[in-house]
Amino acid sequence: MTTTDFQYSDHTKSILNLQLPTDPRWVNLAEVSIEEILTDHAFCEQKAATTCISIIQWYSEKEEIVNALAPIVTEEWGHFRLVLNEIHKRGLSLGKRRKDVYVNQLFDFIQKGGGEEGRMLDRLLSMALIEARSCERFKRLSEGLEDEYLRNFYRRFMESEAGHYTLFLELAELYIPKEKVRKRLQQWLDHEASIMKNLELRGDRIH
Ligand SMILES: [Fe+2]
Ligand SMILES: [Fe+2]
Repeated sequence: MTTTDFQYSDHTKSILNLQLPTDPRWVNLAEVSIEEILTDHAFCEQKAATTCISIIQWYSEKEEIVNALAPIVTEEWGHFRLVLNEIHKRGLSLGKRRKDVYVNQLFDFIQKGGGEEGRMLDRLLSMALIEARSCERFKRLSEGLEDEYLRNFYRRFMESEAGHYTLFLELAELYIPKEKVRKRLQQWLDHEASIMKNLELRGDRIH
């Protein structure tokens, strides 16, 4: 996807459907703890790759899911390596993995009962929401950081995660009726907003 596509596509509008925009102060907090942000970001990419692998394992008989997510694993792992490289360039090391409060709270919303279809829908929608919020945060960084190099660095991630958001929604709609997907998506958007509302605003976290 090109930058121009991104600016005018439906993806952007959908991402703006996130019910609660990030507090504008976040980018200033992130700017002064960019080393922490890089470590946190690296682990977000690692988690994206490993969760896609898990989805492939859970739904190994669903060909479109396997075929669509196999390259995403590579892409997310490529993101991890890009961030790791950036960390090394600064003479730093990856550091310790942190507890991801945002993602853990999102995953708690995945229904335990209600059958396989509902669980698959929730797994795909939880991934879509993580991609959307990450995209929104990367957008903030790509627009609000002082450092031009880092602004460009984050623009690249923003564009990529926007595409992933759409992909997870499309996969859901491939297997589950559209009205059902849209209805549940609205519940996920509300839930995500309530998590964001109660989450401490931290400059050392992507979410
Ligand atoms: Fe990524
Ligand atoms: Fe992604």
